Amino acid sequence: MTQRKILVTSALPYANGPIHLGHLVEYIQTDIWVRFQKQRGNQCYYVCADDTHGTPIMLRAYKEGITPEALIASVWTQHYADFCEFGVAFDNYHSTHSEENRALAVMMYSQLKAAGHISSRTITQAFDPVKEMFLPDRFIKGDCPKCGAVDQYGDGCEVCGATYSPTDLKNAVSALSGEKPIEKDSVHYFFDLANFADMLAAWTNAGHLQTEVTNKLAEWLQSGLQQWDISRDAPYFGFEIPDAPGKFFYVWLDAPIGYMASFKNLCDKQGLDFDEYWAKDSTTELYHFIGKDIIYFHALFWPAMLSGAQLRTPSAIYAHGFLTVNGEKMSKSRGTFIAARTYLEHLNPEYLRYYFAAKLNGGVDDIDLNFDDFSQRVNADLVGKVVNIASRCSGFIAKRFNNVLSAQFAEPALWAEFINANASIAHSYESREYGKAMREIMALADKANQYIDDKKPWLLAKEAGQEAALQDICSMGLNLFRVLAAYLKPVLPTLSSEAESFLNTTAPGWINTLEPLLAHSINDFKPLMTRVDSDKIAAIIEASKENLEKTPAVSASPAVSQDLPVAEPSHEHFEAIFEPIADTIDFSDFAKLDLRIGKILKAGYVEGSDKLLQLTIDIGSETRNIFSGIRSAYQPQDLEGRLTLVIANLAPRKMRFGVSEGMVLAAGPGGKDIWLLSPDSGATAGLRVN
Ligand code: MSP
Ligand code: ZN
Repeated sequence: MTQRKILVTSALPYANGPIHLGHLVEYIQTDIWVRFQKQRGNQCYYVCADDTHGTPIMLRAYKEGITPEALIASVWTQHYADFCEFGVAFDNYHSTHSEENRALAVMMYSQLKAAGHISSRTITQAFDPVKEMFLPDRFIKGDCPKCGAVDQYGDGCEVCGATYSPTDLKNAVSALSGEKPIEKDSVHYFFDLANFADMLAAWTNAGHLQTEVTNKLAEWLQSGLQQWDISRDAPYFGFEIPDAPGKFFYVWLDAPIGYMASFKNLCDKQGLDFDEYWAKDSTTELYHFIGKDIIYFHALFWPAMLSGAQLRTPSAIYAHGFLTVNGEKMSKSRGTFIAARTYLEHLNPEYLRYYFAAKLNGGVDDIDLNFDDFSQRVNADLVGKVVNIASRCSGFIAKRFNNVLSAQFAEPALWAEFINANASIAHSYESREYGKAMREIMALADKANQYIDDKKPWLLAKEAGQEAALQDICSMGLNLFRVLAAYLKPVLPTLSSEAESFLNTTAPGWINTLEPLLAHSINDFKPLMTRVDSDKIAAIIEASKENLEKTPAVSASPAVSQDLPVAEPSHEHFEAIFEPIADTIDFSDFAKLDLRIGKILKAGYVEGSDKLLQLTIDIGSETRNIFSGIRSAYQPQDLEGRLTLVIANLAPRKMRFGVSEGMVLAAGPGGKDIWLLSPDSGATAGLRVN
């Protein structure tokens, strides 16, 4: 077999939150593949990095009162520790905020510019006049233009699902300052993706992508390729664009270049030839493992950028689906938004590696982590089948034969069956059909257990004159166990290496042919894996709920999309900062609200506002001046003398028209349908109702 030269990447996790179990689907999937390639004897490098640039990271650092550099350094350490403990063995783990990445980003940009693929023009964008910065869509909130739902993000409505641009939002405010955004002009730089329409039409159909991905891309290609805005205005945490002071590369421009930068850093450390892997005529293989939410960036922008800069394009992009937990999107309040660290504090990481392997295939389907299924599979397969073979056989070899295996080769036919299975298992690993590989391996484990059941060593042990048979059978069992451990090695590196120490042998690499260990001394058996303790699972879920109470909202939680996204995902995962921390509040939080019945004494229009009415409301103890955005539903004269519900202890808010001293509550979707009143039934103004 000729040795392949392979470079593999996983998507670079954002440096604004901890690694969680959803991320791990990807890193474990990739790591298994890389370990498999190495076991096969291929030269394979696995590189990754933290994705450190962009507005959310800048703002989070600001909120924590530290520099972005300090923030990304501390996150890097946490991410790297999590990956190591899950057995994700990168050859290099770098950062996009590195000199290599700056140099490569500038180089790529200059190449693209020289080749005529960059243009610039002035665009108008929302600008926060208080914070003095342009607002990404996700940082603008307001009422949905379609259904009127309040408090929706600038890129789409979570209530009715409408997508729109932030300028369509009604009553838009900056999520940073609460101030109404103004419109401001600025020059932006664009990558002319349309120049690559032919190249991409060919490339996306040339076997580099999964079928379902190719089909999705065909739709995107048909609907036409837009220019891609690759610049952002200061303040921005990133790389300044050469010859464009105050303009920075958009995070997604330098993120994939981060793959190259991490590899460059490795090359410099190990004396490898960078160009051998990235030059246009490279004969090496390049694979990017990614989640389905970032296909657009990897299967359109990235190959176009590489080709425009006269570099090689990827051999393949391997996209996977999203993780759900117990059938639902990971949820902070249900305790199923589980940080890698929380899991590590309670359970063996190899359980999860096995479980994901058993569920993964080569497609983009979502995968579900169901905790009952998880325990059952780990217990039945790993503990009940695989490790069981070793524990059933090792006792006799230790007690009766001084830990020496038989010199006889008891079952050549069964042995041959185990060894011959290697080609098919290898094919399953290679094509990322890990679920199939696990089923093939467990079918062999069943055969080994069946062999032991048939031969009944525990009965032979009691019979006189059966010593040799007993030793042969148990030795055969342990040899079969050795083969299984080798097949499982990409998935369970720790279990496999402990099995090797127990059997006092070294790893056979990938098994093509193998002789059994005969007349060979082994070591005492120690339990290699214990059953999943269901209390530990409960503890993880409990701890994940506690995290929610204790820590601020720092976790990156990309929305779980059930389908491939239909357009360039505009998210830079802003949820990280602005997603509400909790889905629920405690009763004590609710009790803090002073909810009262108020009587509207006076109502009037507000000069200069087509949305607000000014209300004078008797709340029992005093009268309040409250501005309310209900003009679309009510005439002032209809309001006077009627009752409404008021939050009396809301901090007064200074508005352009005066100070608002509270808030009235209403039901209804908005527009004409805002319902806040009851007729004056004689109820007492000021009555507290919660
Ligand atoms: N920083 C970008 C990637 C840049 S690559 C040049 C990013 N970061 S991320 O932290 O949000 O996600 C990293 C990877 O984890 C992505 O491939 C993403 O699809 C994957 N996953 C994040 N959450 C996931 C699940 N819940 N389930 C499966 N994969 C998930 O995107
Ligand atoms: Zn809506």
